[in-house]
Amino acid sequence: MARKIILDCDPGHDDAVAILLAAGNPGIELLGITTIGGNQTLEKVTFNARQVCTVAGLADVPLHAGTTRPLVRPVEVAEGIHGDTGMEIHDYELPQPTVGVAEGHAVDFIIDTVMAHEPGTVTLVPTGPLTNIALAVRKEPRIVERVAEIVLMGGGYHVGNWSAVAEFNIKIDPEAAHIVFNEPWPVTMVGLDLTHQALATDEIEAEIKALGTDLADFVVALFGAFRKNYQDAQGFEHPPVHDPCAVAYLIDPSVVSVRKVPVDIELTGTLTLGMTVADFRDPAPEDCHTQVAVDLDHRKFWDLVIDAIRAVSK
Ligand code: BDR
Ligand code: CA
Repeated sequence: MARKIILDCDPGHDDAVAILLAAGNPGIELLGITTIGGNQTLEKVTFNARQVCTVAGLADVPLHAGTTRPLVRPVEVAEGIHGDTGMEIHDYELPQPTVGVAEGHAVDFIIDTVMAHEPGTVTLVPTGPLTNIALAVRKEPRIVERVAEIVLMGGGYHVGNWSAVAEFNIKIDPEAAHIVFNEPWPVTMVGLDLTHQALATDEIEAEIKALGTDLADFVVALFGAFRKNYQDAQGFEHPPVHDPCAVAYLIDPSVVSVRKVPVDIELTGTLTLGMTVADFRDPAPEDCHTQVAVDLDHRKFWDLVIDAIRAVSK
């Protein structure tokens, strides 16, 4: 049975790949895509989502725009990584989007969809700041017991990328992350420790290019700009393609190993704001509802992504 998911994202080069993986794998039923201001403004990331849905032929998947800014803190975008458009791309002309934005706020779409489905059947996959999810749970607390699980890209138990110890999605709206991690639903944190293993190497890029489709050219162009920005901003040789790792875990849990540990969000530290504090001491408490992603099977992961690009290209 395909896993029913709502992808809450801020495209974003790697969010775009997450959309393609969800669209192209038969193990996923994409109930909807919601957007959140993050990598760029809500307006820009929603436009990018429309473009990705257009090239992926996702005309029937509802796309809802969400929240423009973090709960408490000012807007902060990741221009150095994703560019002025939020999905900077060279050497590829994206079409004007034909996919539109559906009526209704993303937060209401999330609540209505979860409440309309059987309990335990809808999984939320946030790959941006957690503002929409936090607002949804505050507006309709009953979603906590109805959601199957939350598998999110964010955080990191050993590394940060927006400070020494904090990751972008968590750091820019730590209060929202605090809400989401402290509800008793199952949360899988697919953080930087894992996603820094998901590198788009030259070999992977060549395999995608060899697909020879227009969509493959789009992904190769995405990786080109993403690589350059990651080299300049964070000294990576190849870009870590974070967000599809969360989708891959749902498709095939053997791609991502996990460890059950309590995780909480630092809200008061002067140097550690937004840190995902993971407690690795044994034994984990019986009521522990959080787990962290540890190791990635690089080959299996990229096979899933490449198969999805092939499937969506047809
Ligand atoms: C996360 O932040 C964004 O830049 C990416 O899209 C990813 O979701 C990585 O820290
Ligand atoms: Ca993202």
